[in-house]
Amino acid sequence: MSWNRRHLLTLEELSLAEIDQIHSVATAFKKVLGRSVKKIPALRGKTIINLFLEPSTRTRMAFDMAAKRLSADVISFDAASSSTTKGETLRDTAENIAALGADMIVLRHNCAGSPLYLSKILGIPVINAGDGSHEHPTQGLLDTFTMRERLGSLKGRRVVILGDILFSRVARSNIHALTKLGANVTLCGPSTLVPHSLESLGVTVSHDLRSALADAEVVMLLRIQHERQTATMFPSLGEYTSMFGLNQTRASWLHPKAIIMHPGPINRGVEIDSSLADGERSVILDQVTNGIAVRMACLYLCAGGAPESVTPVD
Ligand code: CP
Repeated sequence: MSWNRRHLLTLEELSLAEIDQIHSVATAFKKVLGRSVKKIPALRGKTIINLFLEPSTRTRMAFDMAAKRLSADVISFDAASSSTTKGETLRDTAENIAALGADMIVLRHNCAGSPLYLSKILGIPVINAGDGSHEHPTQGLLDTFTMRERLGSLKGRRVVILGDILFSRVARSNIHALTKLGANVTLCGPSTLVPHSLESLGVTVSHDLRSALADAEVVMLLRIQHERQTATMFPSLGEYTSMFGLNQTRASWLHPKAIIMHPGPINRGVEIDSSLADGERSVILDQVTNGIAVRMACLYLCAGGAPESVTPVD
């Protein structure tokens, strides 16, 4: 199929065929990344701006590397030393970036809907790198790419997302992708952070950790998003860890071949024991590595690349 989108804003709006297409192009790009020369000229002459107005380690660096592997020129915007500190609006900043000749903007912003807003006022593709508590589409794509790599088809697979779901854009994007891919998704955590209303997204909600983890093939931990919470959602971090933190005992309830995932940043000793984060069931660093190939695929497709022209040579 041909790719018809200029922007990547949400996974809610993507079809299963489009998710498959991104994963398939990412598979081809992953082969490129395994070669001695890890670069192809697909986006030579294009300029990509990483407009990150919220902190990031993984997403910003992976987009930076992805653009460079595709031979694009890339500029990472430093919010702290920019004119946003003088009161310049997102609209003015973005319009100036477009006027300087950028071909694409990758936006991280604390306001849900800001990538959609830019996509409507700018004439260049916009990629959502995380907007508030709304969505983080490339994270959902790299997470499901990693699961498919490890498990094959996700149809009927038991996936548990554990932690602060209410404030998590990662959870929302994963839910949209996983349900389209046919997985059985259970959300687990304290009732204040995992309300039953989330069942409208086609998932199961559980506040009983043992039954949620029993025989699950994937568990994805999420950190507590203090920066987005406007009220105290549970008594203390210690209490959260004692009730819902993943430790060796609780991990033994999982399917024997289960994988442990986390989008990062990890709060060791809070939502996950260090021994599990670094253990052999953990695929946390594979997620990070896969983030480059998946973001190469997103940049390439939204820039107008034809999927059939991705023919990496070993
Ligand atoms: N997973 C994720 O979005 O990490 P960063 O905030 O470091 O980009």
